[in-house]
Amino acid sequence: MRITLFSLAAALVAPAESFFVVQCYSRLFDQRADPVVSPGIAAGHVHTISGGNGFNVTMDFAKARSSKCSTCNIKQDLSNYWNPKLYFKAQNGSFLSVPIIGDQGGDLGGMAIYYLFRGDKLRPFPPGFRMLAGDSSKRKETDDFAGRAVSFKCVGVDATDHKGLPKTKCNQIRAQVTFPSCWDGKNVDSADHKSHVVYPATGNYDGGTCPSSHPVQLITLFYEVYYDTKGFKNLWYGDKQPFVFSNGDATGYGYHGDFVNGWDEASLQKGITTCSDGKADCEKRAFGTLREQGEAQACKLPSMIDEKVSGVLPALPGCNPVTYGPAPTTQQANCAAPKLNLKASPAAMGYVDLTKSKGFKYIGCGKDIAGQRTLNTAQISGNDMTVEKCVDFCKSKNLAYAGLEYSGECYCGNNVAADRAPISGSVGNCLMKCSGNTNQVCGGAGAISLYQSCKGGACSNAVKRESRRLSALELANAGSVDA
Ligand SMILES: *[C@@H]1O[C@H](CO)[C@@H](O)[C@H](O)[C@H]1NC(C)=O
Ligand SMILES: *[C@@H]1O[C@H](CO)[C@@H](O)[C@H](O)[C@H]1NC(C)=O
Repeated sequence: MRITLFSLAAALVAPAESFFVVQCYSRLFDQRADPVVSPGIAAGHVHTISGGNGFNVTMDFAKARSSKCSTCNIKQDLSNYWNPKLYFKAQNGSFLSVPIIGDQGGDLGGMAIYYLFRGDKLRPFPPGFRMLAGDSSKRKETDDFAGRAVSFKCVGVDATDHKGLPKTKCNQIRAQVTFPSCWDGKNVDSADHKSHVVYPATGNYDGGTCPSSHPVQLITLFYEVYYDTKGFKNLWYGDKQPFVFSNGDATGYGYHGDFVNGWDEASLQKGITTCSDGKADCEKRAFGTLREQGEAQACKLPSMIDEKVSGVLPALPGCNPVTYGPAPTTQQANCAAPKLNLKASPAAMGYVDLTKSKGFKYIGCGKDIAGQRTLNTAQISGNDMTVEKCVDFCKSKNLAYAGLEYSGECYCGNNVAADRAPISGSVGNCLMKCSGNTNQVCGGAGAISLYQSCKGGACSNAVKRESRRLSALELANAGSVDA
């Protein structure tokens, strides 16, 4: 089941102000990655990361533009957007990851990115542009524009903007961060990833006159993330609110957002021109057909650090202590650096090469729907599922396709409908480990790992490719059924 909250959020912006929204239905992954602040190494804390799948621990504008899919809905936008991940600190000391609305049954939810037009002569983000809003080390309330730019709503309880994390129980917490919009007109980045842009000199954090040092008026970016906090209401204890961000911030004042531009510049300019009319639904008029939610959900990256960041954790990844302020925190020293695993080889991604041993090749991650199975001729399931077991079963029935789903389910059939086939260039939402072999991947929720019989020469393409290491994208490209 998929839900969309973003249309609800759009109603909260006054109609007179023109804007458009990039709806990021899903995330690439949650990972200790941050190509802006910590390029090439594991970041200090876990981020929830949306946008184009060109994302990597080191990346530039060309990498962003080379994305083959995005978790967000405007096709001309291959930018990346991220925030720290939220946890609940339980009374026994464990940290429980807090779902973002849309996280369910193996799917990942996302965020809404508002492109607010404040001021005249807005220019689109230039190639290579990136920036950071907020301060991870901050633990006290301030009333400057940077302080006002970070706030929280206690959805279902009150309509106020809370400066820090709400102190009462909320059904949902909506985290909000507004980026500075006045640019120096020269630098696409700066040493602290902030000083090339500033908040307006007059007015407020989200609109006003730019200072002469930073005269170029950009679009005002505003990120919104809904955390599903309802399920934690019975677990509160003591006299403090129990939520804490991945950077150890229990105040909320250290919440922040990162942006790496991946826009086609002319398209963004068209968005500004078209959506300046302030009329509803301008995204379609400016950008044409938008990416469907299911396609955005299927855009995923394989884990780059073998580290558990969701579920029940004994500590926050990156050795971040929980801090309550008001003193700023410093990054923990002496925290063992985890090993990065950037090789998106089939084995690293849990796909099994059975072309030689069993005459079946991996063709990608397709879509499935309970009640209307993609492969519906035969099936088995169990707590001991492996790719070999499923392929052997489908082979014994003389069927051309074997599909693994939701860790322990195996389906067989003789064809895959076009609308269920793997999407070319997208790695897909098959990220669950097999119930009988945790080194292998067996689909996901509504996502099926598909293997095809080599009969009739179907594997010749794959066999040729075996001689070199496949990148994640090549693998997914090789996976399109009509390739
Ligand atoms: C601590 O409490 C939470 C919430 O009740 C629970 O989910 C978790 O499993 C507990 N941790 C341990 C280590 O038992
Ligand atoms: C990330 O970058 C590394 C190093 O350039 C590369 O080997 C790897 O394939 C990239 N990962 C993805 C998922 O593209």
